[in-house]
Amino acid sequence: MIKEMLLKDLPQVLTLEKQIFSNPWTKEVFKKIIENKKSYILNNAKNSQLLGYICGWLESNICTVANLAIDEKYHRKGLGTQLVKHLMQACKSEEPSHFYLEVRESNEKAIKFYKTLAFSIIGKRKNYYSKPKEDACLMVRAQ
Ligand SMILES: CC(C)(COP(=O)(O)OP(=O)(O)OC[C@H]1O[C@@H](n2cnc3c(N)ncnc32)[C@H](O)[C@@H]1OP(=O)(O)O)[C@@H](O)C(=O)NCCC(=O)NCCS
Repeated sequence: MIKEMLLKDLPQVLTLEKQIFSNPWTKEVFKKIIENKKSYILNNAKNSQLLGYICGWLESNICTVANLAIDEKYHRKGLGTQLVKHLMQACKSEEPSHFYLEVRESNEKAIKFYKTLAFSIIGKRKNYYSKPKEDACLMVRAQ
């Protein structure tokens, strides 16, 4: 079940964020995203357990996917695909020309995942990430 992310979801979101990412977003960053951008959670409909979330925004006809995570126990069940498609659908009325994202260049799983959604690597951003320092792959998909 996909719903808009609300402030009340933040404790569960932050727990998952810290489990998954080496340089997790803070509560303040998520609060700003909830207030100003697009953010969705995916819950287990039976017990409301958080299974994943996605954040993004639309600017100058480009929809940026900024943060996507699925609880490791639920990988390869199509949930990440559902969340990306939901964000794309939510942006549709604003007619984005492209979807864009950055991903750690060592994150081969995510790169493979995004390729299944028709994203292609178009370049690199040097030392984009910290903890550990790493280049970002820039990936784009046309609408
Ligand atoms: C990347 C991520 C969101 C994928 O979510 P998911 O729900 O497991 O992905 P899906 O089940 O929708 O996968 C769709 C397809 O992508 C590809 N894919 C997904 N995970 C993959 C992996 N670990 N290895 C290879 N291909 C993979 C497969 O082709 C898969 O289809 P299949 O399972 O039928 O073979 C998830 O692995 C995750 O949360 N990773 C940690 C956080 C992260 O890296 N986020 C992205 C940062 S930009």
